[in-house]
Amino acid sequence: MHNLIDNLTLDAVEQWLRQDDRDALEPLWAAADAVRREHVGDAVHLRGLIEISNYCVRQCAYCGLAVTNPYLERYRMSDEEVLDCARQAHRFGYGTVVIQGGEDYGLETDRIAGLIRKIKSELPLAVTLSLGEREPKELAAWRTAGADRYLLRFETSDPELYARIHPPRPRQTYDRFDLLRRLRELGYEVGSGVMIGIPGQTYRTLARDILKFEVFDLDMIGVGPYIPNPLTPLGRGEDVFAVDPDDQVPNEEQMTYKVIALTRLVCPQANIPSTTALATINRDAGRELGLSRGANVVMPNVTPVKYRTRYEIYPGKACLNETAQACQGCLRGRIHAIGRFVGQGPGGRLR
Ligand code: 5AD
Ligand code: FES
Repeated sequence: MHNLIDNLTLDAVEQWLRQDDRDALEPLWAAADAVRREHVGDAVHLRGLIEISNYCVRQCAYCGLAVTNPYLERYRMSDEEVLDCARQAHRFGYGTVVIQGGEDYGLETDRIAGLIRKIKSELPLAVTLSLGEREPKELAAWRTAGADRYLLRFETSDPELYARIHPPRPRQTYDRFDLLRRLRELGYEVGSGVMIGIPGQTYRTLARDILKFEVFDLDMIGVGPYIPNPLTPLGRGEDVFAVDPDDQVPNEEQMTYKVIALTRLVCPQANIPSTTALATINRDAGRELGLSRGANVVMPNVTPVKYRTRYEIYPGKACLNETAQACQGCLRGRIHAIGRFVGQGPGGRLR
C-alpha cells in the first residue's frame, strides 16, 4: 500500500484513471479507505445544504442555472427562510450549513454579511459559502462577518477547456485560482473540485486536476460526474471541445470512485463529500460506495422542497422530492449500515 501512495506521479495517477480491471482496482479502494480512516476517522460529517438562489449571471455551458437558460423559474430565498433552514439543520444535528447559489449579485454583500451574523449569533454552526466568483472585497466582508469556509470548484485545470465551458464575466480581473489563493489569505477553509467526464476532458487533464488538489493543499474537495443537462449548450452537444476518443474521460460511476480514491491519497486530511451527482447516477449505493472509497462527508439538502425542484443544475438530482427530514433519517441509516457514525460539531479540517 505504501508503494501505491508514495508513487503517485502524474503518469501513475493517469494509469489508475485508465485502469478498468476490477481486481486491479481493489488495492486502490483499500488504500483510500485506510488513509481515510487513519487521517479523518470513521465519522461522516453532515453539511446542511441551503440553495439560497438560482439566479446566476454566468453562462457556464454545462449548468442549468446559467443565465442563458430561459426555462428556469427563478427564486431567491429571504433571510428568514434561510434562518429557518439553518435552525432545522441544527435540530437534525448537522454542524455546518452550506449556503449555495448561482453567481447572483441580487444577493447583496451586506445582506449576506448580515445573514452570516444572524446565523452565527443564534446557532453553533460552521457557515460555508458557495456563491461563485464574487469580488475579493465581498469575500473579505463575509469572512469578517464570520463565514468559515468557501467552496469554489475550478472545474478543470485545462485553461482552453475551461475558457470554452466557462466564459468570463466582462471586465473580470481575476480567475478562480486567484480567488482560491485570496480565500486562503483571508483565513477561510478552502474547497474546490472538478466535474468528471466533461466532453473534452482527457485522462491527462484529470490527472493534473488531482495533483492540483495537492498543490493547493485544499481543505475540502468535491468531485462528481458531469451529468448532461439538455437545457444547456454542452448538454445539447453543441460546441464540444473534441479530443481523441481514447483520451476522453467517461462521466461514469466507476471513474468517480477512482477520482475520490486518488484524491484521498493525495490529500489525506481533506474533507471529501460523497456528492449528490454521484448519488444521482447510482441512487441505491452511490453515496455508500463514495464513503467506502475515500469520502467522509455528505451534504444533505435542507432547502424547502418548493425551491429545491427549481435548483436544477442537472436533471434527475437525487432526493429532489424528499423532505429534509426524510434525508436525515435515510442518511443516518445508510451511514450506520456501512459501520460508520455521524460526526458531531462543525467537523472542520484537522491539521
Ligand atoms: N453535471 C454535474 N455537475 C455539475 N455542476 C454544474 N453543472 C453540472 C452538471 N451538468 C457542478 C459544478 C459546480 C457545482 C455546484 O455543480 O462543478 O461547481
Ligand atoms: Fe435523501 Fe436518502 S438521502 S432520501
